[in-house]
Amino acid sequence: MNKLLKTYNFSNFEIVKGNGCYLYTSQKKKLLDFSAGVAVNSLGYNHPIVKKSLQDQIKTGISHLSGSQIHEFKIKLSELLSKESNKGEVFFSNSGAESIEAAIKIARNYGSHLNKDEIIAMTSSFHGRTIGALSVGSNKNYKSKIGPVPGKVKFCEFNNSSHLKKLVNKKTVAIIIEFVQGDGGINICTEEFAKTIKEICKKTKILLIADEIQGGIGRTGKIFAYKHYKANPDIITSAKGLGAGIPIGATIVKKEISKNINIGFHGSTFGGGMLQTRVAYNVFKSINKTKFLNSVKSKGILLGSLLNKIQSNHKFIKEVRVKGLMAGIEFNDSQIASKIYKDTSDNGLVTTLVKGNIIRITPPLIIKIKELKRGIKIISDCLNKI
Ligand SMILES: Cc1ncc(COP(=O)(O)O)c(C=O)c1O
Repeated sequence: MNKLLKTYNFSNFEIVKGNGCYLYTSQKKKLLDFSAGVAVNSLGYNHPIVKKSLQDQIKTGISHLSGSQIHEFKIKLSELLSKESNKGEVFFSNSGAESIEAAIKIARNYGSHLNKDEIIAMTSSFHGRTIGALSVGSNKNYKSKIGPVPGKVKFCEFNNSSHLKKLVNKKTVAIIIEFVQGDGGINICTEEFAKTIKEICKKTKILLIADEIQGGIGRTGKIFAYKHYKANPDIITSAKGLGAGIPIGATIVKKEISKNINIGFHGSTFGGGMLQTRVAYNVFKSINKTKFLNSVKSKGILLGSLLNKIQSNHKFIKEVRVKGLMAGIEFNDSQIASKIYKDTSDNGLVTTLVKGNIIRITPPLIIKIKELKRGIKIISDCLNKI
């Protein structure tokens, strides 16, 4: 028996190796990965860019430097992230939740100078499991029996503009949104809702926080999902695919928002370390290329058409939602969803199940068309047997 705290529903097999879009178990079973460690392993496994970055880092003989110490890739990555997003300044941490914590602290600090302290978050949102991040996440189960979570947070129905307009008031300091919701079941922000958010933020000087932790770094076919909507977020959070498997978080903040922040306001022992910034810099550069992003877009279109076809053949699928290589198959019945999830897994396909009735597909962005087709065939074959 392992001694792991049971916060996960652990797999009953052990993974020992990975290559491309495949994982290999200790029982020599080959698994096609439609999860990528939940939208993390953007370049799959054993990728030359990640490998070379790791090898180059070993040559420096350094594993750790403190937050105040400057080094090449910390500078380079901050410049690159800033240039390719809102031209802001970057705080590095180690995970998505930490990048959210920094975003919340910075927004609240900004608001404290304006007598504003309310944040509007969305229904079906997920921003992490630390206590601050939970305050802006809508899933009540994650917050139960832990006492109060901080802050004044209101939840707006995702994609409901009139609800948002009703919630906004003089005390609102920020709106936080995943433009493509991940753990909430792959819900895609409508053009109309994004337009309302942009207008409100512009008119009332409310901060826009774009959580790009799952939907960013090429996942939806653009380097950041907010770019589909021509939004201009004041604060952007990134993690997951940024490190392609190496833990890193980043919070990118427009200069005018952080002007009251001083030394010691925030920190992280491991944030912005040499290893993770080197890997992330090289990963970001390789993904942020027109050809690469276009390939994600076109594979996403193919994925969408394959899933639509499956849906048209099976009444128990309620809806399929796809943006780039981020897809959700929503079932009417969670028992059927669980069965398909299990059957596909037994047939060598790794996916994730969210909300009990939605199969989430987030393969490595380097997936080949034939691998995409193969995975969809596994799903289709399992559905046909029901
Ligand atoms: C949109 C979003 N925000 C935040 C998080 C939290 O990231 P982490 O698990 O790295 O703390 C996640 C993780 O799934 C996420 O999908």
